[in-house]
Amino acid sequence: MVALILSMEKNTIVIASDHGAFELKEKLKARLEKLGYKTVDMGTHSSESVDYPDFATKVARVISEKEFERGILLCGTGIGMSIAANKWPGVRAAPVYDNYTARMSRMHNNSNILVLGGRTTGEETAYDILETWLNTPYEGGRHDKRIQKISDLESRNSGSSSGERGK
Ligand code: RB5
Repeated sequence: MVALILSMEKNTIVIASDHGAFELKEKLKARLEKLGYKTVDMGTHSSESVDYPDFATKVARVISEKEFERGILLCGTGIGMSIAANKWPGVRAAPVYDNYTARMSRMHNNSNILVLGGRTTGEETAYDILETWLNTPYEGGRHDKRIQKISDLESRNSGSSSGERGK
């Protein structure tokens, strides 16, 4: 049963945006479903103004808690969502602008959240990025110890809330 749930969630992408990328989110959801993925849409559900950290939190929390393997976040530029999502332990949210950064974010960084900008990335480019990101495996090897160092930073700074983090 557990195995069944896990395998189902492997094929499920959790997604959220703010108002700056609501339309692109809707398009990516449709594309994901066409590609055979299930989606869990955590909002926002209109173009009305909202605060991106609230939606970053919805997706980052379930990735951090390992309820889902992969997520997608979108805001106007992708920057705010990345900053907020990367506050969560175990989250590697990558703001991606083209196929190269999409590929590298998977191969080298094992990114588990793809972040896109609705005002910076056109629909067709976003579809290309999406497929590249979904289909590129993590390379492992020499990158493992680097990712481990990021996890070590998270442990070292857990509980800290000042600008001293990471020093
Ligand atoms: C909202 O206007 C905008 O600031 C937001 O979508 C995002 O671009 C923040 O980084």
